[in-house]
Amino acid sequence: MTFAVAIDGPAGAGKSTIAKRVAKKLNAIYVDTGAMYRAMALFLIRNSVDGSDEEAVSNMIEQAEVSIRFENGEQLVMLNGENVNGFIRTEEVGNMASACSVYPKVRMKLLDLQRDLARKNNVVMDGRDIGTHVLPDANPKIFLTASAKVRAKRRYDELVAKGETPDLFRIEKDIIERDQRDMYREIAPLKQAEDAILVDSSALTIEEVEEKIVALVRETM
Ligand code: DC
Repeated sequence: MTFAVAIDGPAGAGKSTIAKRVAKKLNAIYVDTGAMYRAMALFLIRNSVDGSDEEAVSNMIEQAEVSIRFENGEQLVMLNGENVNGFIRTEEVGNMASACSVYPKVRMKLLDLQRDLARKNNVVMDGRDIGTHVLPDANPKIFLTASAKVRAKRRYDELVAKGETPDLFRIEKDIIERDQRDMYREIAPLKQAEDAILVDSSALTIEEVEEKIVALVRETM
């Protein structure tokens, strides 16, 4: 029997940082589903596809094969055999991922891969629709959130640490837009599952959030 922990929430809530740490504590693998959507988005950008053109997106992704590999516990996202981890963390790719993830063809292509991973491994999986759609039997389900202001500031600090000169106002605007698109799309929108536990990380440190979630997982198990 395998177990699955689902961590859903909006962009910048700290899902990946937390999910990675929780997975390590539980000896499970961390599956970052956002990275899969980002790999699809990168493929579309590289092929100059307009993200608002559903038909063009749906046709083009037939040529994209996304898979993942694990190396020293780290998830590598493979796009047609190429490790694209180094190319998917930009704002441009994030925005395209949000735009193209509204299309059924894009979601269907990744759903099987995600379910298959959870069937074969103990997983901590993060995304937008893991508790509601991908793994409805995951236990526990966490909905991790924080205010848009706090999330924008975290993203801003990350980019500054990378030597970039970002615009905080623009980042907050993008985050709010992305939330809207993720929450109001027709298929598998971002929403707290009925049986998910809400964790607001606005005023908590990473360690505090991790502790809280690991405690919730232990209680459930
Ligand atoms: O978590 P992230 O920022 O890497 O995700 C990028 C985009 O991918 C996000 O804005 C919406 C989409 N996504 C999704 O629709 N479903 C998921 N399970 C994960 C991500």
